[in-house]
Amino acid sequence: VESLTVGELASKLHKEPSELIKKLMFLGVMATINQELDKDSIELIATDYGVEVEEEIVIDETEFENYADEDKEEDLKERPPVVTIMGHVDHGKTTLLDSIRKTKVTEGEAGGITQHIGAYQVETSGKKITFLDTPGHAAFTTMRARGAQVTDITILVVAADDGVMPQTKEAISHAKAAGVPIIVAVNKIDKEAANPDRVMQELTEFELVPEAWGGETIFVNVSALAGTGIDELLEMILLVAEVAELKANPDKLARGSVIEAELDKGRGAVATLLVQSGTLKVGDPIVVGSSFGKVRAMVNDLGRRVKEVGPSTPVEITGLNEVPLAGDQFQAFPDEKKARQIGEVRMSRQREANLAASSRVSLDDLFNQI
Ligand code: GTP
Ligand code: MG
Repeated sequence: VESLTVGELASKLHKEPSELIKKLMFLGVMATINQELDKDSIELIATDYGVEVEEEIVIDETEFENYADEDKEEDLKERPPVVTIMGHVDHGKTTLLDSIRKTKVTEGEAGGITQHIGAYQVETSGKKITFLDTPGHAAFTTMRARGAQVTDITILVVAADDGVMPQTKEAISHAKAAGVPIIVAVNKIDKEAANPDRVMQELTEFELVPEAWGGETIFVNVSALAGTGIDELLEMILLVAEVAELKANPDKLARGSVIEAELDKGRGAVATLLVQSGTLKVGDPIVVGSSFGKVRAMVNDLGRRVKEVGPSTPVEITGLNEVPLAGDQFQAFPDEKKARQIGEVRMSRQREANLAASSRVSLDDLFNQI
């Protein structure tokens, strides 16, 4: 509270203004109903009525952003690349994701079956790679619309028997708009009708020129179905990641983005988060979009409970008061009070925005009826 008039304060305290004016007089302040009161006077009167004045916290997005302070070069450590897969319908995105997971994750993992959390990590040549299991398309459009940029590298899947198709072009423009490097996976090379050269030829039109032809784009021939070329593809991802020098500071409060979220009957709001910087720990107070809470439990991509996770790691958390949206940003805070305050402000803003949106819609409806 910066200032209030006598009248405003009276209504907040559910008192008559005349009563307040009398009290002020008693305190040596001559006031009228429209008189602005300073902070000290407000506090004095409120305390007199046994009402505790809470310092109003002026919260705006900058407060949230403050935690994104520039990191010092020496605090930055290498982090795994975050990869999404895009391409035309039926060109083999899902099969490729499954194939990568099968060849890499289940090896050496007792039990083998991984819990689906919308993202997973594999390890190859001693280095990790994070794959987002969301349709690459959604990762770019919905997420970016919400201000989240989660992808470091895009795998463009093009079926060798089908070539460049409308969604191939769309994928290219999304990746280019986001400034994300593209690796082309020419898929289904096991097929009789496969013609990888034609795919290369077609893609040169989009400035995706293979190295063999004097360009800079990496092309890998794969068969997602047969598992051919998967290791080479992973090696190429690491190569591109190395060039990109992907780094983050793991030694601070975590921030990142929501990959997906839902309401679970037993566990409440469940969100898969991608930690993009810092380290997220169980017990951390957290604001996620306009929801908030304390990280109650964390489960990794293998379905195991974990206590903390660092940059580029996907993790499923519980403990939020509401279900956030994919693409929402999250930030851990040093204390729960701050997280709650920011969460509440954001939530009421969200409600106002929704209300405004719904009244706009009804206005439109009105016009449509005319
Ligand atoms: P949408 O999610 O519908 O966009 O398709 P998608 O890109 O995920 O393709 P998906 O992985 O579902 O594969 C489509 C079909 O192609 C399936 O029948 C796969 O079995 C088949 N397929 C995928 N990869 C290969 C491959 O390398 N070789 C052959 N022969 N078939 C493949
Ligand atoms: Mg699919």
